[in-house]
Amino acid sequence: MKSIVILVSGRGSNMEAIVQAGIPGARVAAVISNRADAAGLAFAARQGIDAVVVAHSDYPERERFDTALCAAIDAYAPDLVVLAGFMRVLGEGFVRHYAGRLINIHPSLLPAFPGLHTHRRALAAGVRVHGASVHFVTPELDGGPVIIQAAVPVLPGDDEERLARRVLAEEHRIYPQAVRWFVEGRLDVAGDGRVSVAGARIEEFASHCPPLDAG
Ligand code: GAR
Repeated sequence: MKSIVILVSGRGSNMEAIVQAGIPGARVAAVISNRADAAGLAFAARQGIDAVVVAHSDYPERERFDTALCAAIDAYAPDLVVLAGFMRVLGEGFVRHYAGRLINIHPSLLPAFPGLHTHRRALAAGVRVHGASVHFVTPELDGGPVIIQAAVPVLPGDDEERLARRVLAEEHRIYPQAVRWFVEGRLDVAGDGRVSVAGARIEEFASHCPPLDAG
């Protein structure tokens, strides 16, 4: 049984999607948040999952926060650490400690739109296609090897909220898929940083929703 720790900062809908996927061979051992008021913690507690707070506000220096967070995570000896809307930048030491077992979801088709406000920026740029990416975390912000992506159309009349909703629906599909592949031991990162998925069909790791889904 693989042990998973999920880090959240807020709503936690991706974390919920992973928990509710009920991935065989995996157990979500803890949900940890940097904010005590994160809604995701209540969901975790209701599921009987340890809900833990490591408040960043208690640690003025980022390195100390990273160290405290590491200690809280390592108490569960996780095989996989999942960032699910965790909105703190993690230091290089932290990222290296979990190299190869730390994944993140980002609401854009990386390498487009790393950082914040991705939906707003996609609309401003006039792109026709937007989406979400799950990737291994490296010290480069939103820059690690991509595991799976999903694209959605940008439709006339879209605003940030409508586009975000359409992307989020895809996030809830691809994040559990990426976790499932990891748990099944099917992911491999080549020297050039490209990820292969043993036995997967192409439409499984690069997919799009129907083009006329007006959301
Ligand atoms: C998600 O859209 C996720 O992709 C994004 O925050 C949201 C969290 O929602 N993450 C980032 O922007 C990280 N750079 P959730 O708490 O409902 O899962």
